Amino acid sequence: MVAFMLNGTDVDVDVPNESPLLYVLNFDLNDIGPKYGCGRSQCGSCTVLIDGDPVRSCDVSVSAAAGRSVTSLRGLREADGSPGPLQRAFIEEQAAQCGFCTSGAMLQAQALLDRNPNPSESEVRSGLNEILCRCGTHNRIIRAVLRAAEEA
Ligand code: FES
Ligand code: FES
Repeated sequence: MVAFMLNGTDVDVDVPNESPLLYVLNFDLNDIGPKYGCGRSQCGSCTVLIDGDPVRSCDVSVSAAAGRSVTSLRGLREADGSPGPLQRAFIEEQAAQCGFCTSGAMLQAQALLDRNPNPSESEVRSGLNEILCRCGTHNRIIRAVLRAAEEA
């Protein structure tokens, strides 16, 4: 049994400790935000936050989350379930095509904005340079993160 907090709610799951966190989120907790892209810690589509730090959930075991706080895409919503500031900025900048990378990009961006609420464009580019978007929306993603920072 592994217990942790997911988007502010206590959860516990009866899975092997070494199960990838991504699989536990997707299949045991029905959280389909983080996506399986490469499974090799290279694309970033599975990114979630553990205690505010971005991690590749395909490449960490669920035991890494034990007793800690995990944030996924749903955790970026407002309390009433409407899109949060970063999500609104992504919508306004039309920063998704297929959307497969979007959850990971938003979580990586949220971690950046939490550390640096007013990043420069180069800081945003550098902070998100390991998020791979096969649809080529990188420039829109950068604009969305800068917009979220401006509107905060
Ligand atoms: S699926 Fe985890 S980094 Fe690509
Ligand atoms: S929007 Fe398709 S992979 Fe990024």
